[in-house]
Amino acid sequence: MRKNLLHIWHNELSYEIREIVSVALKIQSFWKEIFWENIWDPIAKWEKVPDWVKNIISKAVKKDIVYGYCPTRWLDKTREYIASTNPKITKDNILFFNWLGDAINKIYRNLAFDSRVIWPNPAYSTHSSAEASHAWTSHITYSLNPDDNWNPDLEELENKVKYNPNIVWILVVNPDNPTWAVFSREILLSIVDIAKKYSLFLVFDEIYEKLTYEEKDRVLLIDIIWDIPGISMKWISKDLPWPWSRCGWIEVYNEDKDENFKQYISSILSSKMLEVCSTTLPQYVLPEIYENKNYKLSLKERILKYKTRADIAEKILLWIDEIKLIKPKWAFYLSITFNMDMINMYHIPNIKEYDIEKYVSEFLWKSTRFDKKFCYYLLWKTWICTVPLSWFNSSFEGFRITLLEEDEYKFKFILEKIKEFILEFKK
Ligand SMILES: Cc1ncc(COP(=O)(O)O)c(C=O)c1O
Repeated sequence: MRKNLLHIWHNELSYEIREIVSVALKIQSFWKEIFWENIWDPIAKWEKVPDWVKNIISKAVKKDIVYGYCPTRWLDKTREYIASTNPKITKDNILFFNWLGDAINKIYRNLAFDSRVIWPNPAYSTHSSAEASHAWTSHITYSLNPDDNWNPDLEELENKVKYNPNIVWILVVNPDNPTWAVFSREILLSIVDIAKKYSLFLVFDEIYEKLTYEEKDRVLLIDIIWDIPGISMKWISKDLPWPWSRCGWIEVYNEDKDENFKQYISSILSSKMLEVCSTTLPQYVLPEIYENKNYKLSLKERILKYKTRADIAEKILLWIDEIKLIKPKWAFYLSITFNMDMINMYHIPNIKEYDIEKYVSEFLWKSTRFDKKFCYYLLWKTWICTVPLSWFNSSFEGFRITLLEEDEYKFKFILEKIKEFILEFKK
């Protein structure tokens, strides 16, 4: 008899952001308009890509070089450009990937299998799934506390690190997805201190660093890391409305300070050598886009737009006792947690669309978590497609929406519908 094909950890690899879409598409086939609040795609929400960006790209598209592969580490010109913007790194500290998920997979896959990473709860699931499938066992997390503006529980972090010698790095996502927190210098320095005290490495996912509402809130790993070996993750897909550019890189700090870390980075490079890098076009235009005089202005305008929407959402949702809304400190999402002692978890909304029932109910019965049921009921009753926080390995019940809707009237309509729906679950 043939051996089982499945990886022991295959059940952990779910992607709720897209799973709920299959149900939403069924509902759409009944001629309902779906309000897509599950994923960051500004283009789907009619955000305009500025003409100056399109001009740079269309000029590049006429050059043959952008149709070829590029070197494993990335185009030299682009790495030199990035290094020129920060005197603390050289181009040899930069390594490009086809997309950031590719970087994440490689950095976990190249770790010794019993070396563990402690990561935040909730966490962006590409990290948590990659770590789980690397280690073949359940995760080790430190809590981000919604009662303390989503700040990390530093005591829990230190205790877990202290009593678990297998932990080799601390992962910090800053600005964070899915809490929309931006951590203060003080908090980050405390994490650096813990890493130093227990000889750990630091990995910071900083892909959203340019999107903080307040410039002063931006504290980067490179500015606080001291002599600790570490990695920062960056990309261009979101500070431009260009999700498909699929282009991320890592910056490696203090590689020379630890021989073991140096060998680990070299193993990541070797695993990259097994394939070619393909995102030549976005890499090629990156320096010209970042250097264009319109870049900073257009980023500022976009950030302001998202911040205004966060203010609108706060006005509509803030006074509902059944939820907690911690206002985002950066760009384009909003997470809402439930005050579970005020929620009637067993409420079944009255939904008359019986023909849709069979598509949704399958997902409802599978789930033990309230927030997942809530999101599927919300979709079923209001056609608003959101993502439950449980999908982000969150022990807090809640859900995430975007701040992308360009039509203000529609945006307010969506929020009012959500508010009405939450109130149905009042105890
Ligand atoms: C914090 C964070 N890290 C990594 C990624 C993954 O990036 P990619 O879509 O390039 O794989 C995302 C995607 O949204 C993210 O939010």
